[in-house]
Amino acid sequence: MSQRVLLTGGAGYIGSHTYVALIDAGYEVLILDNFGNASRQVPSRLKAVTGADVQVIEADVLDRAALDRIFAEHAIDAVIHFAAYKSVGESVRNPLAYMQNNVGGLVTLMQAMDAADIRRLVFSSSATVYGEAEQLPTPETAPLGYGNPYGHSKLICEQIIEETAAADPRWAVGVLRYFNPVGAHPSGLIGEDPSGVPDNLMPYVAKVAAGDLPMLSVFGDDYPTPDGTGVRDYIHVSDLAQGHVLSLKALERDGTGHVVNLGTGRGYSVLELIAAYARASNQHIPYKIAPRRPGDAASSYADPSLARTVLGFEPKYDLHDMCRTSWMWMQNAQTLPD
Ligand code: UFG
Repeated sequence: MSQRVLLTGGAGYIGSHTYVALIDAGYEVLILDNFGNASRQVPSRLKAVTGADVQVIEADVLDRAALDRIFAEHAIDAVIHFAAYKSVGESVRNPLAYMQNNVGGLVTLMQAMDAADIRRLVFSSSATVYGEAEQLPTPETAPLGYGNPYGHSKLICEQIIEETAAADPRWAVGVLRYFNPVGAHPSGLIGEDPSGVPDNLMPYVAKVAAGDLPMLSVFGDDYPTPDGTGVRDYIHVSDLAQGHVLSLKALERDGTGHVVNLGTGRGYSVLELIAAYARASNQHIPYKIAPRRPGDAASSYADPSLARTVLGFEPKYDLHDMCRTSWMWMQNAQTLPD
């Protein structure tokens, strides 16, 4: 019998791509989303991608009664917890909201799971838990830290998971530390929410390429990197999604948890990414050099070897694919209803 998985935040950027990867792998999937930061069109697009009806429950992870109801009514085997706030700048302005939603959401979810006797969980963490990483490439054993309330909330969540699993070994939790997820599903039907002015590099570049924004600011060209601009480990969102499928399978197989990086292990600079995007989109991307963005590290890239060993994780998409699929989505998103 196939396993039934609940995806909190399943209509979001990474959640929706993971939905497709799980359906492709033969799982039954239920989406829980409050649509606070996701388009209501996502379920119908997921239906178009997978060719099957999509089960969605509109609820908040902070709503314990709703979680209890879902676990009572559906025979859920495991949960993947994406639902969280993710903007660094917003977390600095409103730290309490980040603690309530990200930390409170995890605690409420784990309590409801425990009460329902479900203890298999995959958690969305972030390379942000390394703070300003001292070791490059960064292995999972590197010292942890944080530079803002968003990062702090993810670190607290990891600690809560570790303590809970230590107290009750029936828990099997996969903690996935994402590097920089980019790109879109090759169907061009799902991708990162295109509304508003993006904070992150690739969605910003996409909007400049499309002519929706006039110019990109490159935040600093005096970092100790080969061309002076910031270096990041960009990973295609469909590869990242596959990492969740592999994490679930490892939890089923091993019965114990893991903490792994999900990155490619390869860093690209801002200027390299702009050049790759210009090639993939065949568009000119005007940019200017601007001051450094406070809090940004010079370089961040994963040591991906543990994910390879523990999960069998091997990213398939390269930087060109990341730019190409992002561009395809960018063009489609302008014609799709939101
Ligand atoms: N950058 C620009 N111009 C922009 C936006 C970004 O030059 O308009 C540069 C940044 O300075 C950085 C690189 O592009 O060098 C990547 O920046 P992103 O904002 O895309 O990504 P970050 O690495 O800063 O942030 C990501 C996630 C955060 C997470 C952080 C650390 O978005 O959620 O990684 O893990 F906290």
